[in-house]
Amino acid sequence: MPHQTHTSHPPSPTARRRHVCDLDDFTREEIEEVLETADSMKEILSREIKQVPTLRGTTVINMFFEESTRTRISFELAARALSATVVNFTGRGSSVEKGESLIDTVRTIQALGANILVLRHSQAGVPYLVSHHFKGSVINAGDGCHAHPTQALLDLFTIQQKFDRIERLNVVIVGDILHSRVARSNLWGLTKMEANVTLCAPPTLLGPLPFWHASWPNVRLSSNLDECLDGADVVMALRLQKERQQAGLLPSLREYSRFFALTSERLAATSAHTLVMHPGPMNEGVEITPEVATSPQSVIEEQVTNGVAVRMALLYRLAGE
Ligand code: CP
Repeated sequence: MPHQTHTSHPPSPTARRRHVCDLDDFTREEIEEVLETADSMKEILSREIKQVPTLRGTTVINMFFEESTRTRISFELAARALSATVVNFTGRGSSVEKGESLIDTVRTIQALGANILVLRHSQAGVPYLVSHHFKGSVINAGDGCHAHPTQALLDLFTIQQKFDRIERLNVVIVGDILHSRVARSNLWGLTKMEANVTLCAPPTLLGPLPFWHASWPNVRLSSNLDECLDGADVVMALRLQKERQQAGLLPSLREYSRFFALTSERLAATSAHTLVMHPGPMNEGVEITPEVATSPQSVIEEQVTNGVAVRMALLYRLAGE
């Protein structure tokens, strides 16, 4: 359906969404439509001229109050591929440093003509707050430990491209579950797509078991990675935030790696079809070895590449409103 990307009409009746704050309010049908639209966008990106005029006249502001490489650049490339005007904003060097509040900054950006705000912030919930003050669309590009919906969608897209389905696949997410916005958004997305999800972490990084049993009774929990690898279709490693050791949540990085790192030995215990994923940035030698990160089973670079198509799909669907 690449021809659809040249029209200004919404692609389908379920595209009545204004904001993307997390995947909890997505239906399975809407996720499937985003992945289908991303497939069309991927086709555009494979052309010699990787640009269509679809979002000409739309202004996208990348508003990042926290560091980013993949998300910020891929949103910029996505906006440019759709011929939107794109402006990058960081707190540093802006009037935020003179004391301007977040909401006044958002109102200022709106007065300058912004239609879509792509927002990353270290505080959970900021995209929700901003969505009440901004007249256009807000996309959460990562808020604290809470959510990273566009990462989860590109992960789903990568899995779907490889297996042609997500349903009934066994997906193991291993690492700092407690603080991971990627894990949380993937949990929504994967369970809505009816994958079998296992969360694997040291007990100190897994979170309270009563919460998991009450809220996510179908999600498997484990602190033994070796036991989880048997039958896994996807193993997704998460970045270990080193401050966790300083906070007393880990005895040492070496011990963490011994039990939870994706190593060549552990990869050998998986099937040849098992995908290795990582949202990045990686701490090579801590949660994943360089050999595993670059092994034929790794799709880490494809995840990054797919991020552009998925973000094009989201910009297109929001602007279609
Ligand atoms: N995965 C991810 O969000 O990476 P960046 O922090 O580089 O955007």
